[in-house]
This record gives sequence, C-alpha cells and structure tokens, in this order.
Amino acid sequence: MPRAIIFTLLILSLMALLPPVIAANARSKPDPNRPLNLIQDMDLQAKFKAQSENDLFADKRSQRPQIVGTVAQGENYLDTHFNDGVVDGQWATSTPAQLPMDMKLLLRGQERFNIYCTPCHGWSGGGDGTINQRALELVANAEGPVNGTVWVAAKSVHDATVTIQPIGQLFNTVTNGVRNMAGYSSQIPIADRWAIVSYLKALQRSQNASIADVPTDKRGGL
Ligand code: HEC
Repeated sequence: MPRAIIFTLLILSLMALLPPVIAANARSKPDPNRPLNLIQDMDLQAKFKAQSENDLFADKRSQRPQIVGTVAQGENYLDTHFNDGVVDGQWATSTPAQLPMDMKLLLRGQERFNIYCTPCHGWSGGGDGTINQRALELVANAEGPVNGTVWVAAKSVHDATVTIQPIGQLFNTVTNGVRNMAGYSSQIPIADRWAIVSYLKALQRSQNASIADVPTDKRGGL
C-alpha cells in the first residue's frame, strides 16, 4: 500500500477521535448556557421548577397550596374523635378507640414530646425549655423588641388553665396551635399527636401527685 494512503488513513482515524474528546471536554466544565441535549430526557420537559412563577394563578405561585378540607386517602374524615379531638360537639375526654391508653402509647408520646415540645416547654412541661432560656437572655440584654418581636414564653402545661382541659382540647392545641404557638399538624402524624397529649396528661398528673398515688410496696423507694 502506498505510504500516502497509510498516512491519510492514520490522520483520518486520529481525527475521528476529536469529536469525543471535544464532547468530553465540554461536559467536564460548567457552562452558563443551556446544555445541548442529544437525548431528550426529563431535563427538557415542560414543567415548573421549585419556587418558580406561574402566570395562570393570581398569586403566581407554581407550587399550589393544599385545597382546604383535603383528606388523605384512607383517612376517615367522619371520625371527629380521631381527627379533631371532638365527640358530639364537645372536647373528647379520652383517646380515640383505635389508640387505647396504654404504656406503649405513653412511651411513644414521651419520646415525641421530648423531640417536639421540650425545646420550648421543657422536659417537665414547666415552660422552661432551652429556647425559652435563650430568649430570656436576649430580652434581658435588649433595649426593645428583639428581631422586631417580643417574647411570649411557652406556657407551663401545669398551669391550672391547662390542667382542667380535656385531652381533646390539648390535641387541638397541638394540631392547630394556640395564640402564639404554631400548630404541628404538618410535622406530627395524628396518632403521634394523640400519644403526645396522652403523655402530657401523665406529665400533669406527675407534678400533682401525692404519696397516696404510690402503691404501698413502692413507697419505700422514694
Ligand atoms: C416554639 C415553641 C413551642 C413549641 C415547640 C411548643 N409550644 Fe406549646 N406553647 C408555646 C407558647 C409560646 C405557648 C403560649 C401561647 C400563648 O399564650 O400565646 C404554648 C402553649 C401551649 C399550651 C397551652 C395552651 C392553652 O390553652 O393555654 C399547651 C397545652 C401546649 N403549648 C402544648 C404543646 C405541646 C404538646 C407541644 C409539642 C407538640 C408544644 N406545645 C410545642 C410554644 C411552643
């Protein structure tokens, strides 16, 4: 074979390597321009990215809020005891039938209370959580409102206005919030909210107990 042809073939095969090298080089570097997508995957579909605008709606939010009254599949919305803490239009005085008050429920409630409520209300519910301590420190050293607001301390759950509340009302407080306290319906599932308020009742009892509440054979250990 003439040398010229061998050289031409060699150069052509070397040049064939250029496109993949250029492509690899381009792909390895960030580029402010829109990428050239040979494979039309989901990068290129028509969609709204998180937090982007949508002119179709008056408030321009592409992420639509949940429609009021939305009920999750499998949730029995007629069960007002379980969902709202209400029985016959009154605050429920017991846990719903599907969550009998037992040690398992209380221990779950203790664990969830310690996670969600202690930062403000404190371990024993007295209202002396770490956030409260920090806020009081800030307020004590400030001339006026801190970050544009004043501090409302978490209420003691042993306050007489709280201890008289039926468990259903406590459940409602955790679900929807009360005055300056936000609701926890989006963070804590319904069953766990019941566990928490059951534990809250036990906590209240614990702070108002007398020696007569302790079984006789256990009194020596106190
Ligand atoms: C971010 C702080 C914060 C957290 C966390 C918090 N609370 Fe509160 N809570 C408050 C404040 C503040 C108040 C008093 C609100 C007011 O009086 O305006 C309050 C009030 C209450 C009350 C009294 C309601 C009444 O009728 O007066 C109960 C009961 C209660 N919280 C239970 C809970 C439970 C249970 C949790 C955990 C699921 C929880 N809180 C988590 C801040 C908090």
